[in-house]
Amino acid sequence: MTSVYDLPSPFFGEKVFLRAIEESDLPSIMEHWNAYETRVSLGKFVPSSSIEREQWINEVNQKAKKGEAYTFAIIHKVKEEFLGTVALKRINMINRGASLSVSIHNPANHNKGYGTDAVRCILKIGFNILNLHRIELHVYEFTANAVHIYEKLGFKKVGVRRQASFIIGEYRDDLVMDILEEEFVEL
Ligand SMILES: CC(C)(COP(=O)(O)OP(=O)(O)OC[C@H]1O[C@@H](n2cnc3c(N)ncnc32)[C@H](O)[C@@H]1OP(=O)(O)O)[C@@H](O)C(=O)NCCC(=O)NCCS
Repeated sequence: MTSVYDLPSPFFGEKVFLRAIEESDLPSIMEHWNAYETRVSLGKFVPSSSIEREQWINEVNQKAKKGEAYTFAIIHKVKEEFLGTVALKRINMINRGASLSVSIHNPANHNKGYGTDAVRCILKIGFNILNLHRIELHVYEFTANAVHIYEKLGFKKVGVRRQASFIIGEYRDDLVMDILEEEFVEL
């Protein structure tokens, strides 16, 4: 039988690795968290203060302690630079389900492969460590790169929440996407 130490760590991808979020990450978070493109893509229309983000870090750690949600920092493997966060939230161990979210904070770092790598890692964590059965997400139809990476990693579009989001004066559709554990294994 293979030793567990010989198995690749799901926390390490090709370009990024995931680790716990520390209070010392606050300055890095504040650097690009309020970038307009990133915020709007996540439905956070009102800019956040550093106090609000500090409280968020505490909440993240409380939820992880209770096993309700796990949010990780995405770190550049070579530069060891903070790139953003990826999370499994609303973990339900009866249904073995969770919701996924991901954000690469600095728009200058978008479309460089970091998001795909981070989502691949968190799917491995969800299915192979947390023993989840189904992971879902909601995504705005206009964030085409996000929809593309989710489909590439095996998510399926399972519904549309029509005009669910009011964004800068217009109602927009949200897509509901999900992936089951057996679909992830097939990849
Ligand atoms: C969405 C997000 C996480 C993706 O991460 P990323 O590092 O930018 O994405 P990647 O570089 O890994 O992959 C982007 C893919 O989208 C493709 N893409 C880029 N623009 C596209 C477009 N307009 N239409 C379709 N595909 C597009 C790229 O070609 C690439 O695919 P490929 O690797 O098959 O060529 C990141 O852009 C982000 O944080 N955006 C703001 C927050 C957000 O939207 N989060 C998701 C909420 S559900």
